[in-house]
Amino acid sequence: MELADIFRDVMRRYPTGVTVVTSYLEGAPSGLTVNSFTSISIKPPTIGVFITTGSTGYRAIRSTGLYAVNILKHDQDWIAKRFSLDPPGKRFIDLRWFRSRVLGLPVISDSLAYIEAKVVSEIDIADHTLFVGEVVSAEILNDAEPLVYHMRTYKKV
Ligand SMILES: Cc1cc2nc3c(=O)[nH]c(=O)nc-3n(C[C@H](O)[C@H](O)[C@H](O)COP(=O)(O)O)c2cc1C
Repeated sequence: MELADIFRDVMRRYPTGVTVVTSYLEGAPSGLTVNSFTSISIKPPTIGVFITTGSTGYRAIRSTGLYAVNILKHDQDWIAKRFSLDPPGKRFIDLRWFRSRVLGLPVISDSLAYIEAKVVSEIDIADHTLFVGEVVSAEILNDAEPLVYHMRTYKKV
């Protein structure tokens, strides 16, 4: 087996939470499903997301220098599917969302929690770009169980 195949096989056994990372592109809300979200530091609060370089989501974050991480709850697998499979321009159709408290970024209503961040550094790694974000606000919206991704399937904990 090729190393890339073994690597993929191993990584799909590693469970993650599921987020939708949002921003704006040419004034319209933009977002994509992301499981590479990570907390980097608590003091100062710093996060990171790895986004495919050149993708629509990448262009949105680059153009605004801002992003929000929407942590999905257990019953929002349909949102994760929509934000990974539907064309970028169609993802917000008929979706309830509001503007985040400080930066006015798109927040998916009923998600578990969101974090809004300003990009403080950007590092190209292989075919992805790490956007390091300084957290400016964070809010819990629902004290619910999270959505989990494992073995290419959405699950509850
Ligand atoms: C569970 C899951 C996690 C994903 N995580 C990431 C990620 O961390 N970074 C990324 O660039 N794409 C990730 N993707 C793929 C994007 O959601 C997908 O390619 C999307 O269509 C990109 O949208 P865009 O063209 O608007 O940028 C993930 C997809 C799934 C299903």
